[in-house]
Formats: sequence, C-alpha cells, structure tokens
Amino acid sequence: MKINATITAVSHFVPKDKITNHDLEKLVDTNDEWIRSRTGISERRILKNGATSDLAIPAIKKIIEQKNLDPLEIDAIIVATVTPDMFFPSTACIIQQKIVAKNAIAFDLSAACSGFLYALVVGAQMIESGSRKKVLVIGADKMSSILDYKDRNTCILFGDGAGVVLLEPSPIENYGIIDHRLYSDGSGAEFLYMKGSGSLNPPTHETIDKGLHYLVQDGKAVFKEAVLGMANVSVEVMQRNNLTSETVDWLVPHQANLRIIDACAERMGIDKSKVMINIDRYGNTTAATIPICLSEWHEQGKIKKGQNLILSSFGAGYTWGAVYIKWSID
Ligand code: COA
Repeated sequence: MKINATITAVSHFVPKDKITNHDLEKLVDTNDEWIRSRTGISERRILKNGATSDLAIPAIKKIIEQKNLDPLEIDAIIVATVTPDMFFPSTACIIQQKIVAKNAIAFDLSAACSGFLYALVVGAQMIESGSRKKVLVIGADKMSSILDYKDRNTCILFGDGAGVVLLEPSPIENYGIIDHRLYSDGSGAEFLYMKGSGSLNPPTHETIDKGLHYLVQDGKAVFKEAVLGMANVSVEVMQRNNLTSETVDWLVPHQANLRIIDACAERMGIDKSKVMINIDRYGNTTAATIPICLSEWHEQGKIKKGQNLILSSFGAGYTWGAVYIKWSID
C-alpha cells in the first residue's frame, strides 16, 4: 500500500508587537487608505528582539505539548526561510539544538514565499519513501530584518511570523497530501531579490551604504506573474484530481496581496467564503503565511476531517506551486 504523508498537528506563532498602517505613515510617504485598498493589509507583527528560530520555537513547543511528543522521535526538521538566523549553521540545526531533537536530520530550504509548500512536499516525500516517520515542516521569516523602512514600496507589505506542521504517515488511505505541482523560473530573479550579504556582494561599507542588504521588489511585475502562476497551478491541481469549485472546501493562498488572492479564487471559481485570509492582520510573512492560516482555521474548528484543501503560493525565484490535501485531523 502506498504511504501517504499527512499533517497530524499544526501550530503558529506571531510576536505581540504590531506595526499599523498609521505607524508606517510616520516613517514613509504612505497612508492607511492606500495600503488597505491596494494590499488588504492593516497591520503586521514585528519581532523586536530575537531571530527566526525564536519565532518557530513557541509554535513547535505547542505541537510537542499537544501531541505529547518526545522530541527524540522527530526524525527530520525542515525550515523554509529567507531570513535564517545566520548563513550557517542552518536555522533547522539551531532549532534542533533548542528542542533537543537529537535524532532528527535538520536543514533549511530557500524558496521564498513558496518555501513552505516546497518544504511540505520534500517532507511528504521522505514519509512516502518510508525513510522518516515524524517530520517537522516549518515556515518562518523575520522579514523586518531585511526591510528598508524608508522604502514605501516594500516596508508596508511584510511582517514576521512562523507556522509549523508535523507530518506523519496517514493511518487512513487517500488522506493527507494527495498531489502537488511545484514550479521555478529563474527569469524572475530580476524582479524580487536581495543582492547584498551573499557571496556576490559580501558586506562592505559600500554595500551597506547602497542598501544592498534590503529586499527589493518590482511590485507590478511580480503582481502579474503571481496572479497567473497561482491561479494556473491551482487549477492544474484541481483538474488532475477531478476537483471542482464545489468539492474544494478551502483555498489556502499565500498572503502577499488581497487582490492577488481574490483574482486567484475567482479564476478557480472558488467562493470567497472558502478562502483563508489573514493578510489584514499579519501582512506577508513569506514562508509562514500558509501554515499560519492552517493553524488559525484549525484552532477555530473551521477545517473538518475529510475536507479538500488547495494550498497555493507564488514567490521570489520565481517559485510557485499548489498542494492538494485531504484534511485528516478530527
Ligand atoms: N503608499 C502610497 N503610495 C504608494 C505606495 C505606498 N506605500 N507604494 C507605491 N505607491 C504609489 C506609487 O509610487 C505609484 O504612484 P505613481 O502612479 O505616482 O507612480 C502608485 O502608488 C501606484 O503604484 P504601483 O506600484 O503601480 O501600485 P500597485 O497597485 O502595483 O501596488 C504593490 C503595489 C506592491 C502593492 C503590488 O504591486 C503588489 O502587491 N505586488 C506583488 C507583491 C507580491 O506578490 N509579492 C510576492 C512576494 S511573495
């Protein structure tokens, strides 16, 4: 029998400090009305002290508690992030040490806003191959560490947060992660990037003066591709699995811009009542948006066992993809 991977626990953490649109009005030439109408964002959370691993740890601890899990049973930790604590060791290894998961292999994965879906698929394949039984998949980003709070094009969009799922073999046939399609297109590199800090532009006074350590985005170019990419891959996954707009119970889209989410749902024919949206409260938390949505909707008892979920994302690279899950938590 084919082993399916399934999500058996989900959790999230967002820091308590908020930056509202009104706060940003004091930093850059913007206003609440523009931000809300162009992006759907009202506020975002900011981690004042600490690193990306500190966002992930509280969420992981909740899972350990909920599942009464011995960390020594965890056999893999995958962290999707573009804001690792440091270049190396990986944030996954730092987390492994912090939760004393000595038997886990641990590594980071970089696919920006699609990072969580990429990591979910890699983790699922480890389970499906039979090589691992308990995989923590983490999407975590401290975006405030790479934002230029003088650039109104970018600083209004992002926030900090983390979401975590535990993957295990599904005890029920045909439940869990059923199908997925992932894509990459490196021609997108010129539209969304951070050129400094890496081996191309190691930090010098000059790179700092030029602000190369900040995220840069051509919003218009990314917007168009994001709508197309997310909608097309979501429809592709629906068609591959004979799903219709009626039989999809939840669309779980990456939260980059409410207008992108609406356009994607519309192209899929999915009613807005079936779309998970929390961008108003958190902005774009990059790899964390999708697991934070899953965690909040699960906490509120809104996702029922057996429901069909389409997870969909688009991000830097470009990278994009969609995952079909039959939800298996009671
Ligand atoms: N406040 C006020 N005005 C702003 C502004 C801000 N924060 N940012 C830009 N503007 C201005 C622009 O300067 C421009 O003015 P102009 O017409 O006088 O030149 C005008 O608003 C429109 O700017 P534009 O960039 O065309 O806005 P937009 O509708 O494309 O929205 C984004 C900008 C960034 C919100 C939008 O393009 C977007 O969400 N892009 C994709 C983001 C994304 O998916 N990223 C993926 C990462 S995962």
